[in-house]
Amino acid sequence: MMKKLVLIDCDPGHDDAIALLLAFARKEWDILSVTTVAGNQTLEKTLHNALAVLSYAEIKVPVAAGYAKPLLRKLITAPEIHGETGLDGPALPEPNFSPEPVHGVRQIIETIRKQNEKVTVITTGPLTNLAAALIGAPDIKEKIEKIVSMGGAAGVGNWTPAAEFNILVDPEAASFVFTSGIPLTMVGLDVTNQAIMEHDDIDWLKRQDRKIATFVAELLEFFIDQERVGVKGAPMHDPLAVAVAAVPEVVVCKKYPVKIEMGGNYTTGRTVVDFNRITGEEPNVDVALELNRDLFFKLLKGAILSYG
Ligand code: RIB
Ligand code: CA
Repeated sequence: MMKKLVLIDCDPGHDDAIALLLAFARKEWDILSVTTVAGNQTLEKTLHNALAVLSYAEIKVPVAAGYAKPLLRKLITAPEIHGETGLDGPALPEPNFSPEPVHGVRQIIETIRKQNEKVTVITTGPLTNLAAALIGAPDIKEKIEKIVSMGGAAGVGNWTPAAEFNILVDPEAASFVFTSGIPLTMVGLDVTNQAIMEHDDIDWLKRQDRKIATFVAELLEFFIDQERVGVKGAPMHDPLAVAVAAVPEVVVCKKYPVKIEMGGNYTTGRTVVDFNRITGEEPNVDVALELNRDLFFKLLKGAILSYG
């Protein structure tokens, strides 16, 4: 059976780190590369964190650093949520391998170009790298099966009342990707804020007495109960995007026209979902609106335990 070809673009980040662990537990996947983008923290820190997590989990994959800032705007980071390192909490050893000596956008373009089969692209950070790749090499569009993107919200935001963080950091990049014509599943706060790990889950992870389960517990201990975004527990934003790419039935999606607000006084970064088709625009995004919680946590916990 041909493996599913996958690319991951991320900004580790606690939930990105857990998303990477879930992704590399999928034995039916061939993850061709991991690229990092500035978002939760600066590019230097998200790159270091990706290398450190992959090293700690003994995962070997080409990793390349992409954009250090959004296409047009100043970078917003999230130390309030992820700490100064972007992965505060666990004491991770230094990475045991180096990044590719190539820009992450070049890595995305060249990796996709050399495949004979279509690739699924999973994004768990701002969409700067993917947008730049599509702008720089439009030919890769036809070799992308679909994009599964953690970002946006049909409902309220988490960084402003209107906007979710990943989209807000680079609304222009998000707009370009969302209107690229490539099949796109938006895994937004509407479902990720239902995918909550609780204190009991941390205790369960610790009881497993396994290296990676303990590592995830330590990540959650720092990440949990981030009152700033009004969510109790630890929302598994990015792991849910990976789960959707692996087992689409973990959510229920419906296709709607979705536009990205780039010029609002209070609404910049909002994913504007035209539920009532008022605009008459063609639907362009599969919006995830319902979560199968039991299935998701079965996938996530099974993946964590699959590491020795
Ligand atoms: O809004 C949640 C998203 O922003 C997640 O991807 C988290 O890692 C941060 O990047
Ligand atoms: Ca992220």
